Amino acid sequence: MNRNIVCIGAGYIGGPTMAVIAKMNPDRKVIVVDINKERVDAWNSADYSLPIYEPALVDVVKEVRGKNLFFSTDIEGAVKECDIVFVGVNTPTKMFGKGAGRASDLQYWESTAREIKRFANGDKIIVEKSTLPVRTAAAMEAILNDHADYEFTVLSNPEFLAEGTAIKDLLEPDRVLVGGPQTPSGIAAINEVVDIYAAWVAREKILTTNVWSAELTKLAANAFLAQRVSSINAIAGLCEATGADVDEVAKVVGADSRIGPKFLKAGPGFGGSCFKKDVLNLVYLCESFGLHTAAEYWMGVVKMNDHQQERIVSRLFKEMFNTLANKKIALFGFAFKADTGDTRETPAGTVARLLADEHVRLTITDPKALENAKKDMADLDGIVYELDEYKAVEGADAIVLMTDWRHYPSLDWQKIFDSMRKPALIFDTRNCLDGAKLKDIGFKVLNIGK
Ligand code: NAD
Ligand code: UDX
Repeated sequence: MNRNIVCIGAGYIGGPTMAVIAKMNPDRKVIVVDINKERVDAWNSADYSLPIYEPALVDVVKEVRGKNLFFSTDIEGAVKECDIVFVGVNTPTKMFGKGAGRASDLQYWESTAREIKRFANGDKIIVEKSTLPVRTAAAMEAILNDHADYEFTVLSNPEFLAEGTAIKDLLEPDRVLVGGPQTPSGIAAINEVVDIYAAWVAREKILTTNVWSAELTKLAANAFLAQRVSSINAIAGLCEATGADVDEVAKVVGADSRIGPKFLKAGPGFGGSCFKKDVLNLVYLCESFGLHTAAEYWMGVVKMNDHQQERIVSRLFKEMFNTLANKKIALFGFAFKADTGDTRETPAGTVARLLADEHVRLTITDPKALENAKKDMADLDGIVYELDEYKAVEGADAIVLMTDWRHYPSLDWQKIFDSMRKPALIFDTRNCLDGAKLKDIGFKVLNIGK
């Protein structure tokens, strides 16, 4: 029997993941619930103005919403109706008390566990979709199964999708991971969750492990990816000092099949809601288990990332005659990467704040993230937000390209140059523009790692 699914948390993970599960399992009912009514209303909006921007998401939602995919604030009703409960609530870095600045804040997680227990009307499979510290499933089990009327089996099914490619990653995943207790009921529960994915993912790509391995794998995978970005950015500084070109170095290093070409693009450092949070969480876990050298090793990945944004501003400072006060700088792109409106932990935010400290007159332009940028920078006066790149640059002394939006290389750079104050500088922190062409036009060009 194909049982109904509820997902608690209708965010970046819950929404797209459940939309794809519903599309590929037309005989299952899938309900996504959230305490945030505004978010749920947006998922249900008649004109499909969904709460997150993700390529192709709207097409999937149009196909299944109202058929077998539903968004609701009725958590109680949904938990009663469904036997498989995914939990995709937020687990941000804790900003207070023990572990502040490193550990995961598990308050949303715990309150969800208590809600499931309160509303349950039968045995349930609980699936951790959020990224969590290792051994969270033990805490979840302790809350759920203490003096309980029903049996709860807790599994870990971390999500590996990246923003901007969420639908593609969900439809064609490299692998799906389901971890659970190695007991008869645990293995039966694992098989039920495997069946959901087997509707479209080849069985050999669905990997099963014990629950602790699954929880740790997610943190480890993100730490490895973040570490590659910090490694190439550490080489970038050396390239600038020596005349080497980081893109050439990365290409040849990545041609070694043992290393591979992906995640070797030097830039302004990694952003996004996951990498920093998950690496810090790994640092905290290592410290908690007395593994201080391992903790320091992973902390280096975060320090290198912070340093990259400071370096961008120092280089600008030096190239703009050691004073930035009252100069106009246009930031091109505020999203943490292209194809998303998400600005969580975006390097552009850090650079904007460092520039504001220098009394720069800042204009921010971005095709998808301006509303989030306004919210993020609301405490700073005087920033101008402008959708039109040509207006954003009028009279500017410099452009700092922070996000590699696809249309940036094909802008009319001569027109942009003509409307700027001279000397006109462009710092392409993503190395995505045609530097030779820009120099021919008359720009002074800065890059990362060149
Ligand atoms: P998000 O903030 O976009 O969404 C979380 C949602 O949970 C929010 O809408 C919030 O209102 C809701 N929520 C919180 N407490 C609730 C409760 N008690 N009952 C009902 N709803 C509740 O977060 P996200 O980006 O979707 O991330 C969720 C989890 O997935 C995190 O652990 C994150 O690390 C993990 N993850 C995220 C990504 C990503 O790309 N964003 C990728 C992989 C894993
Ligand atoms: C990441 C993981 O890729 C994904 O598997 C996990 O589920 C969630 O965290 P995401 O943060 O959405 O996904 O985006 P990702 O494509 O990994 O990029 C993260 C950051 O690293 C971005 O700021 C991106 O610009 C930067 N990056 C990535 C680089 O600077 N260079 C690279 O080579 C790759």
